[in-house]
Amino acid sequence: MGLLKIARMGHPVLFQRAETVMDPGAPAIRQLVADMLETMEDAPGVGLAAPQVHVSLRLFVYRVPESRAGGDAVVPPSVLINPEIEPVGDEIMLCTEGCLSIPGMRGTVPRAATVRYRGVDCDGREVSGIASGLLANVLQHEYDHLDGILYPMRLRDFTSFGYVEEFAKLEGASR
Ligand code: NI
Repeated sequence: MGLLKIARMGHPVLFQRAETVMDPGAPAIRQLVADMLETMEDAPGVGLAAPQVHVSLRLFVYRVPESRAGGDAVVPPSVLINPEIEPVGDEIMLCTEGCLSIPGMRGTVPRAATVRYRGVDCDGREVSGIASGLLANVLQHEYDHLDGILYPMRLRDFTSFGYVEEFAKLEGASR
């Protein structure tokens, strides 16, 4: 129980395709989810996928806190097990992302503006919906982790990829 150690880019677990969760209600899965929620909130982050805590299973936790919602819906800390995600329409949005496995950096990547998502929670109940804005962004980023994809692998413009600290200096200087 408690905070989990986060795998950083370089660790092979981040590049593997994660396995389906056979029993979402198993005590070990419930414990993992509880610890991942705690780890995400402590970081703090808006999402955390199991491979990021060295567990190659298809599940992730996510949230959209008030401080990040910026007009979008607030989403309480939640879990999605064995998720499926598909774009709705072909509108693309550019998202500036960071990742707890690549601390101190950020980059801008294209994502579907709207997605339909579906999975189950620890009680085996279906969780599904249509998401846009930050929630759609987070769901796609976390889903990618289950397929061994990190956001830098989706960069189209490498000038958008760099150290948060460096961008902050430049943004400060241009004001
Ligand atoms: Ni990430």
